[in-house]
Amino acid sequence: MKRFLVRPEIYHGSNALSYLEGIEGKRAFIVTDPFMVKLGIVTKVTDILEKKHIHYDIFDEVEPDPSLETVKKGLNQIIYTKPDLLIAIGGGSSIDAAKAIMCFCIHLKEKFVDTHSIKKPWFVAIPTTSGTGSEVTSYSVVTDKVNNIKIPLNEALMIPDVAILDEELTKTVPPGVTGDTGMDVLTHALEAYVSVQACAYTDIYAEKAIKSVFGYLLRAFKDGNDMEARAKLHNGSCMAGIAFTNATLGINHSLAHAFGAKFKLSHGRSNAIFLPYVINFNAGLVNGVVKNLAVAERYASIAKILNFPAATASEGTRSLIEGIKVLNAVLGIPAAIKDMNISKDEFEGCIPEMIEGVLQDICTGGNPIHVSEKDIDGLFREAFKGLDRL
Ligand SMILES: [Fe+2]
Repeated sequence: MKRFLVRPEIYHGSNALSYLEGIEGKRAFIVTDPFMVKLGIVTKVTDILEKKHIHYDIFDEVEPDPSLETVKKGLNQIIYTKPDLLIAIGGGSSIDAAKAIMCFCIHLKEKFVDTHSIKKPWFVAIPTTSGTGSEVTSYSVVTDKVNNIKIPLNEALMIPDVAILDEELTKTVPPGVTGDTGMDVLTHALEAYVSVQACAYTDIYAEKAIKSVFGYLLRAFKDGNDMEARAKLHNGSCMAGIAFTNATLGINHSLAHAFGAKFKLSHGRSNAIFLPYVINFNAGLVNGVVKNLAVAERYASIAKILNFPAATASEGTRSLIEGIKVLNAVLGIPAAIKDMNISKDEFEGCIPEMIEGVLQDICTGGNPIHVSEKDIDGLFREAFKGLDRL
């Protein structure tokens, strides 16, 4: 048996922020980052709250890859303010931080008071980048910056009640971030599509998200004011989120979590670099022959949807890898880790610790192919030096 959960309520399109004009509440707690305040995006929300006489407090200390320390700071503040509305504004980091703050707050209260008397605040997520899909997922990733490890959390109570997808809010995202986050969308959708938990429902969302990335990412990358492309990507990001929160992810994310934490690289870019290698590994593609036919057929069906050559499972897998390589190249994402100013010695010295991270990562269990320590070691080494056949 498999479960497909559809949450939250989604308001999308230009001016979707007007949903807030009908919101009920007495006290709001806003979780965001300093750039959202500076860009005036937080003011768009607080103007509405003020008109409705809803008191609000702003926690604007979220940094990229939010740390445990930041979550603790927010926790101290939310305990004090006792909001009935929680509003996260920003990229995945702000939404992830808000989720972790709320989750830790509820678990803390459970230790001291009767669980029936604990009220979860109405949680509204307003993403301003098109990438993590965090506005519809039960996942949050916080970083232990002391030990350089990512801590993925997964609890149903962290799924927002409302997601507001207003593409106007993504207009100022610079090209590099648009590219990286767009590749995160693609990775979510592809991993959900081949996951052991994939089903007909998650496939629908994953397929649509993949089409939106291949159809519109380069347009949004080249022209941030292309609002049609921005809207398609914003919805695609959300759809990929719906797919993976139900179907889970795979080792591409586990590798990216371990590598990104160690070498301080953005999440989307880390995912993008590993994608060709992980697809090659999962399909078991060697000398044009696929060892893992069922997985390769899944990749080939994506290739068909994209109108790439896919007469056989092997050809479809190869053309999908080729399409991703081209996309990465145009977005300025390196094909191999060796091209990133990281020395071989430094990288190889980190492999044992990164393998440990991958083995413990909650995403690893969703991968369609079981991975051994040796497999992970091989994938890290391949992604470092690049493979001629890729
Ligand atoms: Fe991701």
